[in-house]
Amino acid sequence: MSFYLIQIESHLKILEIAEMAKKVLITRIIPSIAHELLSQAGFDVTVWEGNGPMTQTQLIERAKLVDALLSLGADKLDKHFFNECSHLEIIGQFAVGFDNIDVSEATLKKIPVGNTPFVLNNATADVAFGLMIAVSRKMFYQHKSIARGEWKHFQPLKNLGIELTGKTLGIFGLGRIGMVMAQRCIGAYNMKVIYHNRTRHEEAEKKLGCNYVTFEELLQQSDVLSVHSILSNETRGIFNKLAFQKMKPSAIFINTSRGAVHNETDLIEALTTGVIWGAGLDVTNPEPMDANNPLLSIPNAAVLPHIGSGTVEARNGMARLAAENIIEFYKSGKVPHCVNPSVLKKK
Ligand code: DGY
Repeated sequence: MSFYLIQIESHLKILEIAEMAKKVLITRIIPSIAHELLSQAGFDVTVWEGNGPMTQTQLIERAKLVDALLSLGADKLDKHFFNECSHLEIIGQFAVGFDNIDVSEATLKKIPVGNTPFVLNNATADVAFGLMIAVSRKMFYQHKSIARGEWKHFQPLKNLGIELTGKTLGIFGLGRIGMVMAQRCIGAYNMKVIYHNRTRHEEAEKKLGCNYVTFEELLQQSDVLSVHSILSNETRGIFNKLAFQKMKPSAIFINTSRGAVHNETDLIEALTTGVIWGAGLDVTNPEPMDANNPLLSIPNAAVLPHIGSGTVEARNGMARLAAENIIEFYKSGKVPHCVNPSVLKKK
């Protein structure tokens, strides 16, 4: 074969490779819009159809075969994962939270990570708001008491709740979801809102008329303390025995962000010894929670199985954004919702 023919052949090979569809692995069955958008955009999509998440070994095995990953919160994308899968070109996470992903490792490997903010604000704030009301009236416990056959007479003094009107709502981590929760509480109960963040959120202060306070003040002044922060080294276990001791004995603690932000043993102790009044959790540590966890039988506690984003609207929105992050990356080099944008600038 002549030198020119070899050149033409290898040129054609390069063209062929360039035109080959990029492969995307979706790590669970999620709303079909993600698959549809990716397929329409010409991607070769594979979906893990297992009932639960893959083991890390299965995940690595399959991620090695693709160019992009559409991941979920239960996938462990740690240093080991990134060492094994440094070939990945983008990760589109089907969640706003990304504490399952070692973002600094992804950044070292120059892999952009996208997430799905905004679309789950209402759904998650609704769960925080609902838990607050449920705890204030011991609703989950009262419901279970009927099933136990305990509804015999009107009880003038038993299992009384506390009212929320005019109380102080403390937000830990006032961001998009916290703001919706605050708006709901102001609208429904005329609650006064205080918040604690790493940095002040002046726009929220103007919009909601809320006040920035120190963490100590948040603990001391909140009647309802609702956690909306991310899980980070700074926030891991921040709601511990010492923190609960600084709260009002009448306070309700709500967590819809990540279970590891509170210390579960300390929370159970605070609830059973009357250090705080009640707790509503959509997130636990670990997840799933064990069926024998004492929190499930404490009258002033209400626990849900991490359903914050569990509405048709939110989950469709998350699927759409996760797919769009991947599609847009290959189209324009931009990731609309990127948690490590420095990677894109360097590319
Ligand atoms: C998120 O998006 O981070 C939620 O926790 C998933 O439901």
